[in-house]
Amino acid sequence: MTGLGSTMPKLRVRGATKVYETRSGDLLALDRCSLDVMPGEIVSIVGPSGCGKTTLLWSMSGLHGLTGGEVLLDGKAITGPNPAIGMVFQEANLLPWRNLDSNIHFPFEIKREKPDREWIASLVSRVGLDGFGGRFPRELSGGMQQRAALVRALSFKPSVLLMDEPFGALDSFTREEMNHLVEEIWMDTRTTIVLITHSIEEAIFLSDRVVVLSPRPGRVANIYEVPFPRPRSMEIMATKEVFDLQNAIKREIVGEQKSRYAALQALPDAIPAPTH
Ligand SMILES: Nc1ncnc2c1ncn2[C@@H]1O[C@H](COP(=O)(O)OP(=O)(O)O)[C@@H](O)[C@H]1O
Ligand SMILES: [Mg+2]
Repeated sequence: MTGLGSTMPKLRVRGATKVYETRSGDLLALDRCSLDVMPGEIVSIVGPSGCGKTTLLWSMSGLHGLTGGEVLLDGKAITGPNPAIGMVFQEANLLPWRNLDSNIHFPFEIKREKPDREWIASLVSRVGLDGFGGRFPRELSGGMQQRAALVRALSFKPSVLLMDEPFGALDSFTREEMNHLVEEIWMDTRTTIVLITHSIEEAIFLSDRVVVLSPRPGRVANIYEVPFPRPRSMEIMATKEVFDLQNAIKREIVGEQKSRYAALQALPDAIPAPTH
């Protein structure tokens, strides 16, 4: 991509800090986390369980407020849910009593907005769900349900798609299929994507950059560029370069986990006071 350096970030996380108030006291989940995501970029976030990945993603969506710092979308602070941001979660969260079509249209009913039926039909077709519109979630496989969730998230034509371990519950073959599908959709739409995943292979396959978070409190520990051309074939994914990158990221996460206690020792004395 040319001129990337001069473009304004699509999403900008600046000094994101989040403290959860729990029964056993304050819990610092994110500590001055900063990250820029450029327009059309795919960025993956990886890191040990509980390090604050979901907290970071929800704050990017505007669904959760931060204790400190800010998130900017196209240079403007995000203060609440935003129609320009679509989300996909590990569970498809389809309503069991509604068929697939009516599940996809549900958010439009809630918002009393008219769906772009042509666009939705093209998405349904794109994810291979043609002819399944009348089926109920229980009649669909996990992969098909997640395809529907993807259509639902893209139906509003978001400029940013946030995904929290979207394929974590699927078997590995279905997961690979979904990875290819996301790559294809991205090649068509160039939607900016932020993806949380436990799979380093998935992160490398899909991303322009892989962000490694430290153990809680989450901070950006390192960022790896993924320079391979798209579409990323099986041949590319089997190269030594990919293997080396995968190992480097894995080592970083494991190393980070080992230094967990060192990281905890280095916690700042004062936790910033909530601003709300
Ligand atoms: N609503 C909440 N209330 C209190 N603690 C929370 C809440 N959500 C998450 N946490 C805690 O914050 C930390 C980060 O959680 P999370 O962002 O879900 O991590 P990850 O997605 O990386 O596994 C964890 O220790 C988790 O237990
Ligand atoms: Mg999580």
